[in-house]
Amino acid sequence: MRQARIGIFLIFLLCLNLVQSNFLSFLQASDSLKDAFQGKFKIGTSVSPNELSYGTDFIKKHFNSITPENELKPDSILDQTGSQQSGNNVNPKVSFRSGTQTTLRFCEQNKIPLRGHTFVWHAQTPEWFFKENFQQSGNFVSKDIMNQRLENFIKNTFELLKKDYPQLEVYAYDVCNEVFQGGGGGLRPASESKWMQVYGSDEYIVNAFTYARKYAPSGCKLYINDFNEYMNAKTQNIYDMATKLKQKGVIDGIGMQSHLGVSFPSAQMYASALDKFASTGLEVQITELDINQEGNEQAQASLYKEVFSAAVKHANQIPAVTLWGTHDAVSWIKDKNPLPFGTNYELKKAYYSIMQVAGA
Ligand code: G3I
Repeated sequence: MRQARIGIFLIFLLCLNLVQSNFLSFLQASDSLKDAFQGKFKIGTSVSPNELSYGTDFIKKHFNSITPENELKPDSILDQTGSQQSGNNVNPKVSFRSGTQTTLRFCEQNKIPLRGHTFVWHAQTPEWFFKENFQQSGNFVSKDIMNQRLENFIKNTFELLKKDYPQLEVYAYDVCNEVFQGGGGGLRPASESKWMQVYGSDEYIVNAFTYARKYAPSGCKLYINDFNEYMNAKTQNIYDMATKLKQKGVIDGIGMQSHLGVSFPSAQMYASALDKFASTGLEVQITELDINQEGNEQAQASLYKEVFSAAVKHANQIPAVTLWGTHDAVSWIKDKNPLPFGTNYELKKAYYSIMQVAGA
């Protein structure tokens, strides 16, 4: 009898332990952004290599997609000396420097899928890339030469990713970034973009996507990415270009950068741009979300909530929502406190309002 009681007591303790550990793991899961949105979409962040020397636990806890903040941009991976030595004027050499290596290794080792950012951009692209013999002071090359450079740039990048990081999942890539004028109204003019200086039309965009389709690993979705995407003229520009590329079968998605402020745009304006992009039938990703707090943390939290609610409505077309930065201290606009995590990683009102949307 006594033994039976002890047995029952032990079983009781075991059950209690199981209940407690499940309860704890439930609690733990529910305060992670990525876990809260599991089944809806990935939660991404941009990352700079410096952070990977101290902030990895936080990143691993909350995020299941990473965009290197600067380390895959053309000026980070194009190698001028190598291009001049063996590029034969048409084959730019791509190499990954230590910051890029740090970020890619972290993603590969921790099995965190990567969003590549970016191939074609008017900014952070060296001038010599567009010039004869890859020389800063040369003349601009012809369209024919530039086509070969563009194709090889994309090919070499995907090949190097595969060779150096065979286990890395590159699930999306911004093929073109910010090709339209700030507020819309057409393509960036030649005075702002060397791409336009060489091509004079949208041909470079179509070609970039065509080459990316040829060399991207299977499963890597190809995106056109832009900012001010909620302003009518810009929304229309992006929509038209995405539709054109879709007809050619070379695009998979539209990236809404989503650098927002509490006073502009309105949630409604933002949601209607998202609706319009979703109506193309393409994927949509929110790729660089941050919200200028403008001194009003509550308003920031409300807008975050609206943005996530709009995203959840289209979750079947949205593979990921990415925050541009892990926490306020490392944001490109840190004085605007634009992220849901504060300077010391504290949970801000925005964090809680986002979690509400997830139902967590
Ligand atoms: O790496 C150099 C370093 O060697 C130098 O000492 C230092 C001095 O200023 O500058 C460092 O480069 C900076 C780089 O970030 C890395 O920190 C550049 O000056 C700085 O301009 C660059 O800013 C980046 C910006 O893109 C450039 O356009 C931001 O970090 C990055 O968050 C931002 O990201 C863009 C997206 O790619 C596209 N959409 C808009 C978004 C925000 O601007």
